[in-house]
Amino acid sequence: MAGRLAGKVAIITGTGSGMGRTAALMFAREGARVVGCDLNRGAGSVADEVKAAGGEMVSLQPVDLSVAAGAEQVVAFALAQFGGFDIVYNNAAMAYFAFIPEMDFETFDRTQREEVNIIFHLCRAAWPHLVARGGGSIINIASTAAKKGSTGQGMLAHSAAKGAVTAMTRQYATEGGAHRIRANTISPGMIRSAQTEPLMTQPGWTERAIARQVIKRIGEPEDVAATALFLASDESSFITGADITVDGGTMAN
Ligand SMILES: NC(=O)c1ccc[n+]([C@@H]2O[C@H](COP(=O)([O-])OP(=O)(O)OC[C@H]3O[C@@H](n4cnc5c(N)ncnc54)[C@H](O)[C@@H]3O)[C@@H](O)[C@H]2O)c1
Repeated sequence: MAGRLAGKVAIITGTGSGMGRTAALMFAREGARVVGCDLNRGAGSVADEVKAAGGEMVSLQPVDLSVAAGAEQVVAFALAQFGGFDIVYNNAAMAYFAFIPEMDFETFDRTQREEVNIIFHLCRAAWPHLVARGGGSIINIASTAAKKGSTGQGMLAHSAAKGAVTAMTRQYATEGGAHRIRANTISPGMIRSAQTEPLMTQPGWTERAIARQVIKRIGEPEDVAATALFLASDESSFITGADITVDGGTMAN
């Protein structure tokens, strides 16, 4: 299949829902062979959707990527299926919110495990194979929470985690340069997904979110997946260590 990712193999995490599912469909449409994975047992249906649309995708689930063994399992699966990979798209994460008086250490620590360690483990397992491949593209999902506080949500743990994601990605980019490995983050603002839909049903919540944006609509998973597609493709071959904000202009005003 010809396309912007023709000939490439992409590991995408958290393909069972939200932005990960959308990215799997989009990457496959652009010719990538996709290796999906998710904690959720139902995630395999996304591979069926991709195949029904004429794309190529294999999927491993359930797998917990917040522990080293899970990440190693995904890398071994990708190698067994396709012999190597070019793109590591760290999309999967789970955030836990509490305002400062209620933020206990377990909640804080769990957020780091499921938002920061989750990236460390997969990059650690994938790195030697990207080096052996002669390079690749790492895409890590951060958040505008890395750059600003919030009075509406208890972001302490989430901000710390996503701040770490942007910082560690610069180091992957720096050490990766010698191996032709690029690494970039995307910082989404408010995007429709399983994690945000419960918020969006609260009265007035969506209106308040949109009021902070310059572009007056809810962000969709496609907005983030399309940015990831650009960072995965050779169109971004001179871009590494960057962070692209996808937030309808919230950070700009
Ligand atoms: N939705 C937003 O507004 C928003 C904003 C900023 C950043 N983000 C980030 O975008 C990314 C995708 O989030 P989403 O909103 O699409 O969420 P989502 O809940 O719809 O999808 C996340 C997927 O990752 C999987 N996952 C979570 N933890 C996992 C683990 N330990 N092992 C394996 N799979 C796991 C889940 O099962 C789920 O299928 C996350 O990194 C999130 O922090 C989201």
